Amino acid sequence: MGRIIAIANQKGGVGKTTTSINLAACLAEKGKRVLAVDMDPQGNLTSGLGIDKNSLDKTIYHAMCGEINIGECMIVRPFEKKIDLSIVPANRDLAGAEVELISTDDPQHILKGILKSIRKQFDFIIIDCPPALGMLTINSMTAADTVLVPIQCEFFALDGLSQLIYTIDLIKKKLNRNLEIEGVVFTMYDARTNLSQEVVDNVKNNLDQFIYKTVIPRNVRLAEAPSFGLPINLYDGRSAGAEGYRKLADEVIKNRLFAD
Ligand SMILES: Nc1ncnc2c1ncn2[C@@H]1O[C@H](COP(=O)(O)OP(=O)(O)OP(=O)(O)O)[C@@H](O)[C@H]1O
Ligand SMILES: [Mg+2]
Repeated sequence: MGRIIAIANQKGGVGKTTTSINLAACLAEKGKRVLAVDMDPQGNLTSGLGIDKNSLDKTIYHAMCGEINIGECMIVRPFEKKIDLSIVPANRDLAGAEVELISTDDPQHILKGILKSIRKQFDFIIIDCPPALGMLTINSMTAADTVLVPIQCEFFALDGLSQLIYTIDLIKKKLNRNLEIEGVVFTMYDARTNLSQEVVDNVKNNLDQFIYKTVIPRNVRLAEAPSFGLPINLYDGRSAGAEGYRKLADEVIKNRLFAD
């Protein structure tokens, strides 16, 4: 049964999409069957994996509205021989879901229902959340087994984290009692500045959550890769960014919550 991981932080630009794409691709590189689901109307995961989001007529939005089965919008193994990674795309249509779905029965459980039918086909399902704590993120966390929280190594790193953890707790109480925090991962770590290390130390001292040993470095190859429509391991497999996400994938595979 596939493990479903929501990558969430309501703060914008902290590395959610970069982590979703590259964690998914590195898990796939390690032989796992992986599905990456774009739950952000910005569609950055979709375009970052080389899909022209504006030309799609079927996306996660149509699956959430019940117009299609999820299989009908899934892009199956676009990097075919290289890695077993499939994608459920999104584009700005998904912004409508936020409003339209609210009037339906049980709007928080829609994504969970959709993924139920296909989770057996995958080892991991990675969901990229938008930078907000609205319906799309709530659906993602309700569908997920765990939440992985990227934290950018910058001065305001801790801002908003208590709100995020409160929301996760609330979802655990009301909607998904099995939900756990998978862990926190530091992104965009810059070894040349004291600030990055200070942020890491400060978060470690103040946050009572599991923190991954792997720290993702600031690496220009990670910023370039989406414009080539490739995950980092296919764009520059020897870069520091690729190494970082491979190590994170190893840690995720060995996750303490799922050890037998
Ligand atoms: N480790 C890194 N090194 C260099 N650049 C990075 C790194 N991680 C992310 N970036 C860049 O930082 C920007 C924000 O990253 P990303 O889009 O992954 O964040 P996000 O949390 O998904 O943003 P949003 O909240 O808008 O969805 C992007 O331009 C991305 O290429
Ligand atoms: Mg994003």
